[in-house]
Amino acid sequence: MKTPLQNQLQALPTYLGAKRKLLAWIQNGLSQVCPAHHWKDLTFIDLFMGGGSVSLWAKAQGFQQVIANDISSRSQILATAFLSNQRVTLTPSDLLGLTQALPESAGWIEAAYSPSVFSSRHAQALDKGFYWASQHPDPSKRALLLTVMWHLTSDFVAFPTSLGSSNRPFAEALDGLRSWDDLNPKRYVDKSLKRLCEPTWARLGQKARLVNAGVMGGSPVQVYQADALAILPTLQGDILYLDPPYAGTVSYERGNQVLDTLLAGKTELEPACVSPFSKGIDALNALLSQAEHIPIWLLSYGNQELSLAELEALVRVHAGTRTVVGYAKRYKHLSHVSRTETNEELLVIAYP
Ligand SMILES: C[S@@+](CC[C@H](N)C(=O)[O-])C[C@H]1O[C@@H](n2cnc3c(N)ncnc32)[C@H](O)[C@@H]1O
Repeated sequence: MKTPLQNQLQALPTYLGAKRKLLAWIQNGLSQVCPAHHWKDLTFIDLFMGGGSVSLWAKAQGFQQVIANDISSRSQILATAFLSNQRVTLTPSDLLGLTQALPESAGWIEAAYSPSVFSSRHAQALDKGFYWASQHPDPSKRALLLTVMWHLTSDFVAFPTSLGSSNRPFAEALDGLRSWDDLNPKRYVDKSLKRLCEPTWARLGQKARLVNAGVMGGSPVQVYQADALAILPTLQGDILYLDPPYAGTVSYERGNQVLDTLLAGKTELEPACVSPFSKGIDALNALLSQAEHIPIWLLSYGNQELSLAELEALVRVHAGTRTVVGYAKRYKHLSHVSRTETNEELLVIAYP
């Protein structure tokens, strides 16, 4: 049986670097230095909200206030759907709206991405869905509908392939352009093919139920779309959670290029400008040097470039009189594709 929070978290699409499975670990670390009975009087800042799991968790904990920020437009969709929205959900007629015929001027996903990424049947469903979702006049419903379409987009590629051209053989088999026997046999056992063959309306209904379950009342949430380095000095709060892109890992902008283009309703690939946080640790140093006004810091990081001891030392340089503690946990993001056995998730906490 899933807890209510676990059900709510399923509303969030799969997100590279998401902390959904590490929430209990992070919560435990925070409770050690700041017991949960104080949280109702405190403001929690999630400066790199990404796929939203930490912000949604914080909203459910009843902090006095939650502040969620991320530079990307994809995160803003989740913030509008699940963080600032406290009660608006989708109705069956909102969903039906996604399947209406397209005006003549619309319908570019099939032209641009079929069969390189999607089969023609899937591309047509995405064309309609993204077009009508983006036309909805209510901002919360628009964001919820775009989240449904985000889920659907991930369903229309053979998991666990990325949303790139690696799906081409599956799209071609679905379109009758290639033999099914050419496909990777693994996909026959991981349920990818079953999902790819299902009718779109069945998947739409299932995704809408998932998404509606993520809408809940809780702490008020202020949402920003800003560069972390620029906004941090202007934010007031008690607990600062930092989960920047890890230096030396895949950039979010490159990994999400196709998705970002679809979510933005653009016909050309969005340019992928790489975050300074993915390039090295200079940006992290600069960020911590701006964090003095917030008493408690929690920093999530990977062990690709720094060991736990090195990360603790980096935090100590900026932490002043705070006590610094660190934890490491063996963890693989995207465990179904990752071949690295040595990946660890690091958590460093600095507190007065
Ligand atoms: C590791 S992910 C955060 C994952 C998130 N904690 C979760 O559970 O889903 C890092 C995020 O940092 C964002 N980002 C990258 N550079 C940024 C910047 N300069 N300012 C703010 N956000 C940034 C990316 O868009 C990405 O969503």
